[in-house]
Amino acid sequence: MKNNSTYTARMPDARGYVGYTDEENRMWHDLISTQLPCLEGRACDEYIRALERMEFSRDRIPQLPEVSAVLRDHTGWCVVPVPALISFSTIFELLASRRFPAATFIRNRDEMSYLREPDIFHEIFGHTPLLTDQRFATFSEAYGKAGLAADPADHAMLARLFWFTVEFGLIRTAAGLRSYGAGIVSSPGELCYALESDEPQRKQFDPVDALRTPYRIDIFQSIYFTIDSFDELYDLARQDLPAHIQEARRQGMHAPAYPHRESA
Ligand SMILES: [Fe+2]
Repeated sequence: MKNNSTYTARMPDARGYVGYTDEENRMWHDLISTQLPCLEGRACDEYIRALERMEFSRDRIPQLPEVSAVLRDHTGWCVVPVPALISFSTIFELLASRRFPAATFIRNRDEMSYLREPDIFHEIFGHTPLLTDQRFATFSEAYGKAGLAADPADHAMLARLFWFTVEFGLIRTAAGLRSYGAGIVSSPGELCYALESDEPQRKQFDPVDALRTPYRIDIFQSIYFTIDSFDELYDLARQDLPAHIQEARRQGMHAPAYPHRESA
């Protein structure tokens, strides 16, 4: 979720296209060329298959109407440009109507491997492929609807559920632990850390447990939640999320597993 921005959104023209510079397109090329070889054995099969469906260019930043055309064919989703600053309510409204909000700027070269806020590489490469997967798409839409119906006091709680699944989720497969979270699959550093480091905790996903878990946005995660199948997300879309929030409030927040300040 987005709060303080140091970047300026790139505004699309009437056709929805942004005139990226050669340097911006080179940045995309360098990011995608670095990330693709890291995915094997680390990203889950559903993500790899979904990425193949997207057919992203290596040489230029994909334009949002091109990405939307593929999403529409599979699940009826599209991706829409948003300013760097958007509220929880706007995010929920967009997701509830199968529109994924995407920042349109691409990071500066000095933030090649560490990014303070999501850019178009994270949004397009990290998020949009799995929106072609029906189970994942159904969960994302239900999440937006739950957010729209929720009391604003519960928005930060719901943000944790998104964080520990869509952004930083892991999945257990027959071939071993893999990632499906957009924040992981779009980050070479965190992809290795999340799956191979001894430092973070890896817990079986439980919605109430995830709602009770604080996180920081500016460091690699201290805790990852692991699902066994995308069916778990599909089932979660049909569960009573307000009841889970109530139960999480009753049990109280976990102590942070990371040092220093809490960001959410
Ligand atoms: Fe994200």
